[in-house]
Amino acid sequence: MTVQSTTPPREGLSHRVADPLLTEFDYQVEQIDGVLPKDLTGTLYRIGPGKHQVGDTLLRNIFDGDGMVSQFTLDGRTVHFRNRYVRTPHYQHGQTSNRIRYRGIGTQIPGGPLANFLRLPANMANTNLAHHGGELLALWELGKPYRLDPDTLDTLGEHDFDGRLGYLGAFSAHPKWDPVTGEMFNFGLDLLPTPRIRCYRVARSRVLTPLASVPMLDLVWNHDFALTPNHMVFVLDPIQPNLRKIGLATHSLVDSLDFRRKKGTRFLLVPRAGGTPRIVEHEALLHFHLTNAYEDGTDTVIDLVRYSNWDELRAGTNAFNNPRLPDSRLMRYRITPTGRVIEQELAPYSVEFPQYDWRRSTLQHRYTYLTGRTTPTPLHNTVLKIDHNTGETDGFDFGDSSVGEPLFVPRSPTTGEDEGWLLLLNHRLAEHRSQLVILDAQNLDRGPLTTAWLSHHIPWGFHGTFTHRIAKPGAPLPQRSELPTR
Ligand SMILES: [Fe+2]
Repeated sequence: MTVQSTTPPREGLSHRVADPLLTEFDYQVEQIDGVLPKDLTGTLYRIGPGKHQVGDTLLRNIFDGDGMVSQFTLDGRTVHFRNRYVRTPHYQHGQTSNRIRYRGIGTQIPGGPLANFLRLPANMANTNLAHHGGELLALWELGKPYRLDPDTLDTLGEHDFDGRLGYLGAFSAHPKWDPVTGEMFNFGLDLLPTPRIRCYRVARSRVLTPLASVPMLDLVWNHDFALTPNHMVFVLDPIQPNLRKIGLATHSLVDSLDFRRKKGTRFLLVPRAGGTPRIVEHEALLHFHLTNAYEDGTDTVIDLVRYSNWDELRAGTNAFNNPRLPDSRLMRYRITPTGRVIEQELAPYSVEFPQYDWRRSTLQHRYTYLTGRTTPTPLHNTVLKIDHNTGETDGFDFGDSSVGEPLFVPRSPTTGEDEGWLLLLNHRLAEHRSQLVILDAQNLDRGPLTTAWLSHHIPWGFHGTFTHRIAKPGAPLPQRSELPTR
C-alpha cells in the first residue's frame, strides 16, 4: 500500500464537524493552493445536514439535520461557492420556533408516545443529490425528492414525477444510471398500504416508469442498491422494525430497528425487463452502501462496505455532535447460477462512501475510491483507491482532518477508467475550515493538485454529484429537450 500523509491526527482532538453552518454564503473563493486544472469545468454539488436543531433546540440523530446544499462552480480559473438550505417544512418551522414539531428518524416529538403515535418522519432532504435531465433533485429515502434550481439552489418544491411515485412518494437517495441509455434507476420503500419495494426507471426526458413492485412483508430497511445490465440488485440485511416499539411510538424509528442476525441477508435481483425476482439467501450482512454490481459470465458480482456491529453503528448515528464510523471492510460477493455466494475481502482497511468511475456502472470496474482510515480516528481522514486487478491500495492521508466522499470526474468522455480527478471536501479540524480538494486519481500519493479554502467549515455530510454544466445564477432553467444527464 502506498499512502502519503500530511500531519498526523492529534491525540484526543475533539472535532467540531457537526457544528451548524447557519449562514448562506455566495462568494468567489480567494485562497487557492496549487493550480486549478483548466479542463476541469462544471459544478460540484454536495449535500448533508447543515444544522441539527429547531431554532435553538438540538436534535440528536445525524440523519435529522436540515439538508444544506453546497455548490462549487469551476470554470478552469476560479472557484465560486454558494450554499443554500432546502426549504422543507421542517427547515421553515425551525427558522421561527424552538419547538420540535416534526418527528425525525432518530428524534421524537416531546410529549411521549401520544405525541409521536402514527407520525411519519419529516422529509429533511439531506442525503443525496441527483442531476438528471437538467434537473437537480435533493433526495431523502422515505419521501419525495425536492427540485432545486441548479443555478441559484432555490427550492422549487416537492417532485412526484407527474404523480407516478408510490403512495408515500418514497424515492431513495441512491439512484443509479445506465451509462449506455442515460436512464436513471431508483427504488422507494413504500410502507403503506402494504410494505413493498417499488422500482423505477426515469428516462432522460424525465418520464418515470414503474418497473416492479416487490412485496416485502418483513419490512427490512434498505438504503442503497446496484444496477447490472439485466437487474436491479438489492442486498436486504435483517434490519427490521420492532413492531411493538413502532406501534406504540415509544422509541424513535432508529431505536425501533433491530438487527436479527439469525434471519440472514437476502440478495434480491429484480429483472429490469420485468419478470420474477430472484432471491438468494446468505448469512447476515450489515451495510449502508454498495459500490457497483456487474455480470461476469453467468455470475453476478456485488461490492459493498460491510460493518460488523449494529449497536456501534446505531450509536454512531445517535451522536449527532460526535459522529463516528465503526470498523468496516470493502467486500465482494459473487453469486453463482446455483445460488452459491463467494465472499472476498478487498482491502484490510475501514472504509466508507465507495465511489467509482460512473461510466463503469453495470460493468466490471477496476478501481474503487473511498474514504478510510489507516490510524485510529473516529472519522475518516484518508482517501483510498483500490485496484481490483492488482489488489494494491493507494491513497493520501490528510492527517488532522475529516474527509468526505471522493467523486471521480473523467478528464474527458473518452479517457480510460481512472484517467481523471477526484473531488472531495476536507474539513481541517485545527483550522475549523473546509477545503475543496482536487487530486489526480492516478497519482493520489502526490497529494492535492488544488486546495480551495473556504472561509468557514461545511458540516459533516453525505453525498453529492458533479455535472459539466457550469452553474450560472440567473440563466433560464434547462428544458426537457436539452436532456443532459451529467
Ligand atoms: Fe448513503
